[in-house]
Amino acid sequence: MQYYIGIDLGTSGAKLMLTDETLQSVRTITKTYPLDFTADGKSEQDPADWLEAVKEGLQELAACVPAGAVAGVGVGGQMHGLVMLDENDRVLRPAILWNDTRTGEETQFLNREFGVEKLARLTGNMAFAGFTAPKILWVKAHEPEIFARCKKICLPKDYINYMLTGVFATDVSDASGMLLFDVKNRTWSEEMLSVCGVTRGMLPQVFESAAPIGKLKPSFGLGENVTVCAGAGDNAAAAIGTGTVNAGTCNISLGTSGTVFIPTDTFVQPENPALHSFCHANGKYHLMGCILSAASCDKWLNETLFDTADYGAVIPCLNADTASKKLYFLPYLAGERCPHNDESIRGAFVGLSHDTSRADLRLAVFEGVSFAIKDCLALVPQQIGKATVCGGGTKSRVWMDVLANVLGIELEIIRTEGPALGGAALACAANGLHVAITNDVGAIVRPDDALKKIYAQKYQVWKKLYPALSAI
Ligand code: XUL
Repeated sequence: MQYYIGIDLGTSGAKLMLTDETLQSVRTITKTYPLDFTADGKSEQDPADWLEAVKEGLQELAACVPAGAVAGVGVGGQMHGLVMLDENDRVLRPAILWNDTRTGEETQFLNREFGVEKLARLTGNMAFAGFTAPKILWVKAHEPEIFARCKKICLPKDYINYMLTGVFATDVSDASGMLLFDVKNRTWSEEMLSVCGVTRGMLPQVFESAAPIGKLKPSFGLGENVTVCAGAGDNAAAAIGTGTVNAGTCNISLGTSGTVFIPTDTFVQPENPALHSFCHANGKYHLMGCILSAASCDKWLNETLFDTADYGAVIPCLNADTASKKLYFLPYLAGERCPHNDESIRGAFVGLSHDTSRADLRLAVFEGVSFAIKDCLALVPQQIGKATVCGGGTKSRVWMDVLANVLGIELEIIRTEGPALGGAALACAANGLHVAITNDVGAIVRPDDALKKIYAQKYQVWKKLYPALSAI
């Protein structure tokens, strides 16, 4: 029996999943690491913490199987993060993450002066504060001595793959989110490289996600013959892990961020550029809407406001009375990506009263995040009739009921860790093994006509709050 390891290099921690060759999970390990998030919109992590987490996790998983039994490793990683290395491959500064919003000026320069149309022609996308190119411009302007010493630029999972194999590589799905990549033609955009002052030699070689890039270094304790594949951005990996590969399907992920992921057979230039148009990990393409705070809003509510790590402590009821309360939550705790592209907006509760309970607040958070997901889905040209849902947010059944009623569609709640399983599936494919994913469906959640109607009306009011908030 051969085994595979899929790694989800997330924002709150790394999940490492050991699977057998039929992609059945044998063991999953989570290793957390700190996130440095400040009020002025900085969000950073130390790549050394990622590497330590991955190293420890691999060693623990190695102990679960006979020596030499692991055949492949595949990493899915948090997207858009900027890692800069010097000539000795030393990390020059903390990684600037996907939800960092310090780059307002650089983003505006790219969208307004360089121009959204030109960006779309070159990369398929517009600029967002969290994308990699504005971050490069920010470092160039604010930390010129670091920029001058920078010899390599890469994404979080590509740093890990480099450390695992010694091969400096990236994959098409993750490269798509750098705004340096010609998504349609699956290659670097020379013009964008020159706008950012980056040479081709500073960037990793691009592979398709399931392509083998090299062998795992023996020092990781898994032997000498473990193939590492190029891997994928975490959303594309989650899509592989939930079987979201065909046009007409949709996966919603509720992790630190929230995303709607829609595979397409060919490259699509979305009418509204707030929707991302990226390469998929299966050789095709996809559209994606991303909100910056999803399950992280519920984490903030429980851990910061309610001061508990027990998410079962306050469970709201969903019925016509509770859904009709005029309490609203705007989930912009880290600014917002889709549809507003507004790095300076912040979150809000609106409609608090003396009788607002903790359960009311939690229901409002479930609703507010669900409305923001609906904002993304509203931009998708295709009609979406049902979706899979994965990520930490799925642990709350009430939230899943709220989401199904807000979106008005049937949801399949997936129990497996999407991105980690996707990483393992890509690792299998790199070894020539193409295993079909069978989803472990925890529940099927269907909307209820009365609640659907209440939420359709509530969404219309909620939508008026962003412009009001942004005005102040
Ligand atoms: C996608 C995005 C987030 C991160 C989370 O564009 O920024 O979903 O990938 O890890």
